[in-house]
Amino acid sequence: MTFAEIEFNSDLYAATLKLRDEVLRAPLGLRFSGEDLAGEERELHFGMVDDGALVACLVIKPLGDTRAKLRQMAVADTHRGKGLGRQLVCNTEEVLRAKGFTAIELSARETAIGFYKKLGYAETGAPFEEVGIAHRTMVKQIARPKTA
Ligand SMILES: CC(C)(COP(=O)(O)OP(=O)(O)OC[C@H]1O[C@@H](n2cnc3c(N)ncnc32)[C@H](O)[C@@H]1OP(=O)(O)O)[C@@H](O)C(=O)NCCC(=O)NCCS
Repeated sequence: MTFAEIEFNSDLYAATLKLRDEVLRAPLGLRFSGEDLAGEERELHFGMVDDGALVACLVIKPLGDTRAKLRQMAVADTHRGKGLGRQLVCNTEEVLRAKGFTAIELSARETAIGFYKKLGYAETGAPFEEVGIAHRTMVKQIARPKTA
């Protein structure tokens, strides 16, 4: 099992779209639209690859030089509960820290809040609805901000 940074428009990127569709959209009766994917060429894509097959992925949207948004976290249902999600997020945090990011925020589905809490993310603000389901904003400081 290897952690990989995935190039936009590569074969592995195509595999992330398939996995994200299966895990995050199809169960809600939704599909990805062009609008959903707009701007992804400027975002960072990471995944866990098992013998060439993508089994988990996420997207990082920079919100500036030091803050980033973690989005589209998906682990294949056959591979859940084995620590892969944790491994993917921890490896991604390490890459972002090295790039100078100090904080990560995300919109957590209510069913995934416990997962992010285990990884050190804290809820902030009121619940809100996205893709028809309840979410909470969660944040984690991954490095100390540089003082001027
Ligand atoms: C949520 C998800 C990403 C978790 O991935 P995973 O690989 O199964 O999680 P891990 O095995 O790395 O779990 C890490 C820890 O979080 C816990 N955990 C995992 N999913 C959890 C959940 N939904 N609620 C509470 N705790 C959870 C695990 O028990 C484990 O705890 P431990 O370290 O004490 O043993 C995965 O279940 C998934 O893709 N779900 C469907 C899509 C989704 O909800 N994505 C997030 C959208 S915001």
